[in-house]
Amino acid sequence: MKQKSVYICQNCGASSPKWIGKCPSCQQWNTFVEEVVTNTIKPSSGVFQASEVRPVKISDIKTDTVVRIDTNNTEFNRVLGGGIVPGSVILIGGEPGIGKSTLSIQIALNIPQKTLYVSGEESASQIKLRADRIKKSTDNCLILCEVTVENIIPAIRETKPALVVIDSIQTLRTVNAESSPGTVTQIRECADILIRFAKENNIPVILIGHINKDGNIAGPKILEHMVDTVLQFEGDSSHVYRVLRGIKNRFGTTSEVGIFEMLSDGLRQVSNPGELLIHHHESNTSGVTVSAAVEGLRPFVIEVQSLVSTAAYGVPQRSTTGFDTKRLNMLLAVLERRCGFRLNTKDVFLNIAGGIKINDPAMDMSVITAVLSSDLDIAIPHDVCFAGEVGLTGEIRPVSRVEQRIVEAEKIGFKKIFISAAHKKNIENIRHTIDIVMVSKIEELFRMLFVKRRSTQE
Ligand code: TYD
Ligand code: MG
Repeated sequence: MKQKSVYICQNCGASSPKWIGKCPSCQQWNTFVEEVVTNTIKPSSGVFQASEVRPVKISDIKTDTVVRIDTNNTEFNRVLGGGIVPGSVILIGGEPGIGKSTLSIQIALNIPQKTLYVSGEESASQIKLRADRIKKSTDNCLILCEVTVENIIPAIRETKPALVVIDSIQTLRTVNAESSPGTVTQIRECADILIRFAKENNIPVILIGHINKDGNIAGPKILEHMVDTVLQFEGDSSHVYRVLRGIKNRFGTTSEVGIFEMLSDGLRQVSNPGELLIHHHESNTSGVTVSAAVEGLRPFVIEVQSLVSTAAYGVPQRSTTGFDTKRLNMLLAVLERRCGFRLNTKDVFLNIAGGIKINDPAMDMSVITAVLSSDLDIAIPHDVCFAGEVGLTGEIRPVSRVEQRIVEAEKIGFKKIFISAAHKKNIENIRHTIDIVMVSKIEELFRMLFVKRRSTQE
């Protein structure tokens, strides 16, 4: 076999015959690493001759109902679309220390059938310590500390587990590729061998993947295309809440999320996200508002905190946790134009409770009210919540699943919810006791919340 070496971008997988400093396809610097490739496919004339492969009519294809493996974990099942499909390959990505290993060992321990946990990162005793913390030791879960795929495959064959966990794909190596573990070629080859094995033997595999500084799963982008399901485990490692989000799923929707809480004895499922809000109900403080958000298909209320103060240094700071900073800047610009607030000399800090990242545009209304409330030092009553997107002209736009949001807010005990006036038609039929206030412009919202109350306070 002829060997040649090429330079491969470790960020996107682009290749080049010679070393280059900046990747022409992903624009990253210093990402090219020399890798040896063995050309195994030779497009010799024999390859494309007639074979046994024949297309079939779609009506002739028989589908057998897939029996999914129940992971005994409602949140995990929910994200997958009802359990693990046999033979599927699931990639779980996340920052270091977020709890990928904890989640996977918990799943491996919880499944009543035999499971195999392969670790290239930790020793068997470290894994045992973790399992002891989770206070669950079963004889069904086997541990293998190994990094060479050629040794892992026979071990899986021999033990015939119902699920294999690989922690992590970046630590694996195959003798087929000469580059070091973690390089694009190694990751791609190892994943390819494991995926083929999973499909041929109908054994599902969970691959744990590290993410790089941009938040993408490290290694070739094609890894995400190769597997059936990609899940992202998110959260702030200094907080307790974690969100498991589906990014790609060949066997279900990607609109579901799973919510967990990291405790000293492992990850607890948060089946009722309303409890994320616990701190709020005690006092009336300025800068705190509540949003009736929807993440995935689930409604929940979440607290938004803001602090606006005079900029200590020349350049005002904009700092957010759990919210997009660009979006905050946009909202501040709208506030400046529409309500005349000069926030360009102020520092603005914004936090979403629990360190959770929410991708719901309906958070906008509570973000601007939190900022205004902090700036004016006027508290928003604690039994009021918001659900509305803010447009560039200051209009309050309608949001998805507004009924669900209203019902959830009502269930948790809120007395008033602010929504867009554009919902007028949709919500006529909802029976509710909560007071629904419809607004069409942020000027209007501002007047309702602050101007009237300020004059009564004076
Ligand atoms: P880990 O699963 O090792 O993260 P990853 O594999 O994503 O790098 O979890 C790391 C953190 O979780 C670690 O800082 C300790 C904490 N942890 C708990 O709080 N409780 C537990 O029961 C366990 C096992 C870990
Ligand atoms: Mg780990």
